[in-house]
Order: sequence, then C-alpha cells, then structure tokens
Amino acid sequence: MSERRLEGKVAVITGAASGIGRASLFRFLDEGARVVAGDIRGAELEETLSEAASHGEAAIVIGDVTEPETNERLVATACERFGRLDTFFANAGGVLPRETASTTYEMFRADLALNLDAFWLGAQAALPVMTAQAGGVLLATASGAGQGAVPGLASYGAAKAGGIALIRSLATEYGPRGIRANSISPGPIEAEGSLGYFESLPGGRAAYEAQLPLRRMGLPEEIASVAAFLASDDAAYVSGICLPVDGAISARLWQPVHE
Ligand SMILES: NC(=O)c1ccc[n+]([C@@H]2O[C@H](COP(=O)([O-])OP(=O)(O)OC[C@H]3O[C@@H](n4cnc5c(N)ncnc54)[C@H](O)[C@@H]3O)[C@@H](O)[C@H]2O)c1
Repeated sequence: MSERRLEGKVAVITGAASGIGRASLFRFLDEGARVVAGDIRGAELEETLSEAASHGEAAIVIGDVTEPETNERLVATACERFGRLDTFFANAGGVLPRETASTTYEMFRADLALNLDAFWLGAQAALPVMTAQAGGVLLATASGAGQGAVPGLASYGAAKAGGIALIRSLATEYGPRGIRANSISPGPIEAEGSLGYFESLPGGRAAYEAQLPLRRMGLPEEIASVAAFLASDDAAYVSGICLPVDGAISARLWQPVHE
C-alpha cells in the first residue's frame, strides 16, 4: 500500500518510541525518508531503532521535548547525519485525565509544556534550517480534545487548541518562505499511552467503541499514513489546516438520546 513519496527527504519525529510516533517512524522509512527519532524513554527508543533498521536509515535522540536543547539536538542530528531537514513532526504528547479542581497549577503548566510548548520549541529549532533551505514542513499531533471539549481533559484540550492555533499562524507567517504547517487531530487511537484511559471509562473500551461511528478505535498506522501524506509533495498545497483523523467523531452532532 505504501508508496515511496518521501524519497530523499529527512524528517524528525518526536514521541517515536511508541504509538503514533513509532508507526510514523516506520511509515516514513518505508516511504523512503531518513528519520531522526526522538523520545524521552531511552531503552524503548533504542529498541525501536533496532527494529527500524530493516525499514531504512534512522538515528535517535533521547531527551525531553519540553527542553529547548532536545529540540535543537534533534534538528542538529538531522543536519549532521543526513544533511537537511524537510519535516519536523512534533508528535510527543500525553494526558492524565483529571478534574479541573484537583489539577494543581504545576500540573496545568506541565500539560501545557508537553502539549503546546513542545510544538513551539520544535518550530523554533526547525525554522532557521527550513528558512535557509527555502522549504520544509511543520507537522504536529493535536487532538480531538483541542477541537471539542472532553470532560476531564481541560488543560490538555487547552494546550492542543493552542497548538492548532500556533500551526495555523506558522503556516501564514512562513508560507512565503516555502514552509507548510499542518496539524492532525486524531480521534481515539489504540496507543500505549491511551488504552488505560479508554479502559477506565464507564463500561470499558467495548462500551466506548460501541458509540463510535466506525464502531472501533483507530490504529497508530492510520495516523502515520496521514502524516506521511502531509509530509509529502502530494500535499504541496495543503497548509494551515487541522485535519481530523477520527472516524467521523467530530462530524457527529451530539444530541440527547430519545428513549
Ligand atoms: N492515542 C490517542 O487516542 C490520541 C488521541 C489524540 C491525540 N493523541 C496524541 O498523539 C500523540 C502521540 O501519542 P500516542 O497516542 O502515540 O501515545 P504514546 O504514549 O503511545 O506515545 C507517546 C510517546 O511520547 C513520548 N513522550 C512523552 N513525553 C515526552 C517528552 N517530554 N519528551 C519526549 N518524548 C515524550 C512517550 O515516551 C511515548 O513514547 C500525543 O501528542 C497525543 O496527545 C493521541
């Protein structure tokens, strides 16, 4: 199914040790890109790198994406190892659901740091290289919780909504310099970091899935394929959007159930 649309391109992908980032790493390699994969979990990232070897050429950077230095190292590694940077995919993120009243200010700031500041830091690191090359693609993994409201995800939702707005701004600010910027808004995806959350909902995962328009959660690979499209020249005129990849969840109008 996979074409080699990313031949000759170099990408950074964060959060690459599991879930959407890991699937994107494999997809980008399968499509011909060389990839610098980042994650805070060193052992898992090393293991991912050894599995990636049969797919293509990759390097890793272990570090926390909420630190400017990690983002600078990701970009420097792409330039030093592979000579350029075509796509920076700020994908690392995560959420611990909790009520707003029991969320401390430190927790709120930490949610913003991981799910919003990291997009900005990634862009700050990537833009000088992309501007010098007169081209590049900024990609970010947002969330349905940044488009609509999900009870218990207030700070995460606020961060992701900010990320969607940031990406739109970057698309307009840097479009004249050949840079595109887009976000992807996944629905519920079967990833390591999220399965516990869906299991914890009333009735567990099965009851949750029974309410979804497609009657199932999405797969990390189903986000990775869209990320590869947005990174490719097939999406040359796609910029400034937040693309929902959510099996019609955001298309559905909520209304009371009539007994
Ligand atoms: N799974 C879902 O249902 C879902 C839905 C919407 C959006 N998302 C978003 O998708 C993205 C990927 O998450 P996933 O679902 O694949 O989950 P995941 O937990 O499987 O993967 C996230 C990866 O990010 C890494 N990471 C976390 N904090 C980091 C940090 N500070 N620095 C560097 N790496 C860090 C983790 O170690 C992990 O490998 C996240 O931004 C998440 O918010 C997920």
